[in-house]
Amino acid sequence: MSSIIRPSILNNNQSQLSRWHGYASTSLLELATVNLILDAAQHAISARNAFHLVLAGGTTPRHVYELLRTQKTDWHFWHIYYGDERCLPVNDTERNSQMAAQSWLNYINIPADQVHIIPAEQGAESAAQAYAITLNKIAMFDLVLLGLGEDGHTASLFPGHDWGTATDASPTLPVNNAPKPPPQRVSLSARRLSQTLQLVFLVTGSSKQQAVSNWKNGKNIPAAAIKPACGVDIFLEDSLQ
Ligand code: 6PG
Repeated sequence: MSSIIRPSILNNNQSQLSRWHGYASTSLLELATVNLILDAAQHAISARNAFHLVLAGGTTPRHVYELLRTQKTDWHFWHIYYGDERCLPVNDTERNSQMAAQSWLNYINIPADQVHIIPAEQGAESAAQAYAITLNKIAMFDLVLLGLGEDGHTASLFPGHDWGTATDASPTLPVNNAPKPPPQRVSLSARRLSQTLQLVFLVTGSSKQQAVSNWKNGKNIPAAAIKPACGVDIFLEDSLQ
């Protein structure tokens, strides 16, 4: 992986710096992702005694999270955030925080107060305000993981909705009428997701082919609006290239 640079985020007009990494199988992509996460953690912990990681939701990262269960690292230095959350009851298995807990976080001794769950059960507006306060405590993430939807969405930033790209955009956005159920969500804004030292998209499955093609062809999709100055790394299966 390229060396980490201390970035400010790009302005809206500049194009996204994207690096595409093809893998022959989903398993190889997942193993590469685990290694990248552990490498980022080691650098961050060595430098700042803390590793601030933003998790992707959906189903793509599940096996990566499962593989992390047994990794050797000091979880006491890890701080977990979520790129978005679905407005569902706290223990609803469809919540991104529940997927991460059931696949990984319930199996490691990370301090509970270092897992920063979006209180989406409060409803989109209230939870977005509350999580913005939580995010005030961290200026720059060390690593952000994101998925890609079939329509080019990422986190809960959907086509036709506000993506929060302005330099003064709020760090969190309430989302209503999301095209991917549930309709109510909370998302970190494109601006806030871009405040990171590293950012990796994980893209698997033939259903993402059109979104990848649109992205590569310069279509204005939400995923292309994520513009950390360090650029973005996109891990995808060779079959999607
Ligand atoms: C969500 C996610 C969303 C997801 C993509 C890809 O709440 O659904 O945050 O952005 O990452 O829709 O989902 P899959 O990984 O399930 O394909």
